Amino acid sequence: MEINENDRIGPYRMESYLGEGGFGEVWRAEDTRTGLFVAVKIIIPNSEDDLSTTLNAAVKEVKSWSAAGEHPNIHTLEDQEYRDGKVIFVSQCAEMSLHKWLQKHQSKAPSPERAVKMMLGITSGLEHLHTRQPPLLHRDLKPENVLLFGEIAKLADFGLSRSLSQGSHIKLTKRLATWGYAAPEVYNDEYRVESDIWSAGVMLYEMLAGHLPFRQQPGPSLMGVVLNRLAPPLPDTIPVALRDIVMRCLEKDPKARFRSAQEMQNALSASIVRPAAVRGKGIALTKIRELIGHWGPFSAVAYSPDGKWIVSGGNDGTAKVWEASSGRELRTLTGHTS
Ligand SMILES: Nc1ncnc2c1ncn2[C@@H]1O[C@H](COP(=O)(O)OP(=O)(O)OP(=O)(O)O)[C@@H](O)[C@H]1O
Ligand SMILES: [Mg+2]
Repeated sequence: MEINENDRIGPYRMESYLGEGGFGEVWRAEDTRTGLFVAVKIIIPNSEDDLSTTLNAAVKEVKSWSAAGEHPNIHTLEDQEYRDGKVIFVSQCAEMSLHKWLQKHQSKAPSPERAVKMMLGITSGLEHLHTRQPPLLHRDLKPENVLLFGEIAKLADFGLSRSLSQGSHIKLTKRLATWGYAAPEVYNDEYRVESDIWSAGVMLYEMLAGHLPFRQQPGPSLMGVVLNRLAPPLPDTIPVALRDIVMRCLEKDPKARFRSAQEMQNALSASIVRPAAVRGKGIALTKIRELIGHWGPFSAVAYSPDGKWIVSGGNDGTAKVWEASSGRELRTLTGHTS
């Protein structure tokens, strides 16, 4: 069943095609009730018989999505409906996916700092999922499932692949593409927190190197290298601390990887701390944390009285609030013109 521009599904008018995934198509669409634009993921069962399976899988997906709760780095589902023989998931439309962002920048992050910043958001979202009760695993982390809203990265589609593939009868259009991000144990049908950490490490590798660590076609040859071979080293131009983080994520033995997204995030934050003594008017200053976010220099910085927060005023006209302990960017306040 083909979907075209201006087709309507319920109140949604398809405006432009965003892409095709393992289970259907995603369109930017107008909600004709409000005039606002949203992203509509359309899942089309292969036949009438498969409809109930698809619906069950969709209900499961919605459950796991809502169990994730709210978090700045988690993409939330706004609506899920069954309309005209199709199951649709409606969510906020992102400016682009991490995949498109990488394509825009010659397949890699413009700088190691930007890669780290992206990963800090990703690991924050992951830690949130992993620490839910019961814990949620993403299971399909890859650049297409990281959506960008300004500078904020949000994880999308967690659990989707599992609930839908358990539903089984849905047309799989390009499922194999995801294998580039799958941990060795996943080939054995074992999925754990550390499997998400592996996929996060693959994304970091890709952002730094401009290509995947294991570049074989999905299938036996890819499985062979993922199970048995070390990823080729990253270029020497990448800070050694970052290279170590990637390699730790890509340990074959899950127990040798970071045990949590938080642990990975701590290592990422520490990797951009370059101790440097700066001498000025008789005071020795040691740089303990680098906060990346402002465009251009910043002109003012202050701690909150309890030492928990840092606020910085940038020449980019924004003020940013940071968590002092982790260096995590919490808020951007806009409005100033100078
Ligand atoms: N809310 C959204 N806003 C903008 N783009 C989106 C949104 N949701 C999905 N996309 C993009 O649409 C394309 C298809 O998404 P879809 O989730 O169906 O497939 P996928 O992420 O490639 O694979 P998978 O089925 O494993 O999730 C992807 O490039 C994805 O980044
Ligand atoms: Mg997706």
